[in-house]
Amino acid sequence: MSGDDDGPLYLRIADGLKRLIDRGDVALGTVLPAERSLARSLAVSRSTVVAAYERLKRDGWLDSRRGSGTWVRRPDPSPERVDAVATGRLFLAADGQRGRPATGPGALPPDTIDLSVAALPATRAVRRAIDEPHGPELDALLAHHGYLPHGLPELRAAVAAHLAGRGLSTTPDRVVITTGAHQAISLIARQTVQPGDSVIVESPTFPGALDVLRRFGARAVPLPLDDQGVRTDLLEDLVLRSGARLLYVAPDFHNPTGAVLPLARRETIARVAERTGIIVIEDQSMADLDLDGDGLPASIASLAPDGTVLTIGSTAKLCWAGLRIGWIAAPSDWVMRTLATKTVADLGSPLLDQLLAVRLLEQVDAIRAERAEELRPRRDALVAALRDRLPDWEVPVPSGGLSLWVHLPSGNAEEFAELALEHGVAVVPGPALSVDDGNRRAIRMAYVDEPARLVEAVGRLADAWSRFEPAPPRPSARLLI
Ligand SMILES: Cc1ncc(COP(=O)(O)O)c(C=O)c1O
Repeated sequence: MSGDDDGPLYLRIADGLKRLIDRGDVALGTVLPAERSLARSLAVSRSTVVAAYERLKRDGWLDSRRGSGTWVRRPDPSPERVDAVATGRLFLAADGQRGRPATGPGALPPDTIDLSVAALPATRAVRRAIDEPHGPELDALLAHHGYLPHGLPELRAAVAAHLAGRGLSTTPDRVVITTGAHQAISLIARQTVQPGDSVIVESPTFPGALDVLRRFGARAVPLPLDDQGVRTDLLEDLVLRSGARLLYVAPDFHNPTGAVLPLARRETIARVAERTGIIVIEDQSMADLDLDGDGLPASIASLAPDGTVLTIGSTAKLCWAGLRIGWIAAPSDWVMRTLATKTVADLGSPLLDQLLAVRLLEQVDAIRAERAEELRPRRDALVAALRDRLPDWEVPVPSGGLSLWVHLPSGNAEEFAELALEHGVAVVPGPALSVDDGNRRAIRMAYVDEPARLVEAVGRLADAWSRFEPAPPRPSARLLI
């Protein structure tokens, strides 16, 4: 992905070193060359290396003692950093959308057009499912004591059928219902991650996955993307070098890029999982948002019969995030421990939401079609407006999902996002979605608003951009000979 090759030189050196440490190319404890000698070999000034080392020390990647030099360490997991990342901002932004002025740090100013949240209001089917009489099924449910950590059997059957539609053969007893896909990631992390463990994470990615994995003390090792999705050609080497036990990928309409991972790359992940034993989280949260009807290649789990692939999904993106219903489809030897972890976490997800989810999954094809109808004009309006008003920006068109992943031709996305906010548009800068603060020229823009609002947002962004990057000076009108 472009975007990592910009920024001040000292930061690029610091990032490069972090990547080498993450990949295991520079072992922990390695004493780094003295500043002057590294400066000489990189042909940069000594002050650049000093600044790079300072940055790495500040972030906890290096330590030094007089007389002993500067050596490589791992930063301590930092809860403050976890709390400060993008998911917290999402909630504040969502408060604003409910008509209440959002308050507190990170709250959006009034009249902001919020392109930072990749989630939609409830589909009409949710309202219909709530309004429909529930009669006997509700009575049967209310007659039960209400603790069902495994999940409502009808919903587990509906999820198994839903996954069968994607070619993944599973059974209701291998499905565990979770409180959103977010909890699914958390339950898996709780079973697999010890503080200090390396976990390979696609980068950029869904920021909630980064939050959760870091909260469990994982060292996230970035697996970069190109325009087709994660670079699976790098995977096996990365697994072997980093010693990672867990891999997190979202192959279907990836958040934020919308990329659909081609079949061959899915097969590579499946083979690496089988060969190395790395546990794979296959996040299908966006899989039902197929805007162009192109369909999806087989799921990674269906391609890896001898690997451990935990498939997770959710009704949040298709139906409504407020339902908080997700799932894990696990190989049979993982069911009991997943169930035990779920029981310890919360004794089960809310049953009334599960009842609604059963009804919604019964009409999943109609809801998919409705969502695609709703989203296509929004995506197209945003793309057209960007190409019209900001022709220098790189705007790939995803075939599904909820967001565009655009690249600025120059400058720094974090700085631009600040300026965009002052102009009344909230976007997410690439580093907030990236493992190593990379993707510095990328921004995520969700196309979940009405087309007219999206066009208005682009007008504001174009305004911001004209101030952010002043036009090059015009040639002088005076003829100079
Ligand atoms: C890829 C991905 N996974 C998981 C989630 C969280 O989903 P849920 O609301 O079901 O917890 C999101 C939400 O943005 C997402 O984009």
